[in-house]
Amino acid sequence: MSGNRTFTMVKPEAVENSDSGAILAKIEEAGFRIVAMKKLHLSAERAGKFYEVHNERPFYGELVEYMSSGPIVAVVLEKSNAVADFRTLIGATDPSEAADGTIRKLFAESKAKNAVHGSDSDENAAIEASFFFAELEQF
Ligand code: CMP
Repeated sequence: MSGNRTFTMVKPEAVENSDSGAILAKIEEAGFRIVAMKKLHLSAERAGKFYEVHNERPFYGELVEYMSSGPIVAVVLEKSNAVADFRTLIGATDPSEAADGTIRKLFAESKAKNAVHGSDSDENAAIEASFFFAELEQF
């Protein structure tokens, strides 16, 4: 049975382009409820920790540098089948492969600057939500 929560970040280029409001509107219109939200600027160390699972990948250094280059908006979301439905809503990692109408098709610039993060499993959604928010901050 899949879970009801997922975690997303509006990434630095989308925040810089003043797209966070439009992106959050699309997320709410798709039926997700905001459980927790904050804007913050990750240090390179914290960004590296968040993406530690990718630390062997060739793009890890670029990813950490980019994700610590400006403020992000971190959000916990709730909906039935949240992880899978959110990944459908945002589209493929590479915006050139993302389906029409998806958030990445509409707002992303490239595979690295791809507007939003989305958890890839229920287990990672819980880990990622707790990376940013205490239990008392999620309601
Ligand atoms: P995200 O969903 O945040 O999870 C890992 C991120 O790594 C992914 O989105 C992309 O932004 C980034 N990424 C994946 N593949 C590449 C790549 N080939 N080059 C640069 N960044 C990548």
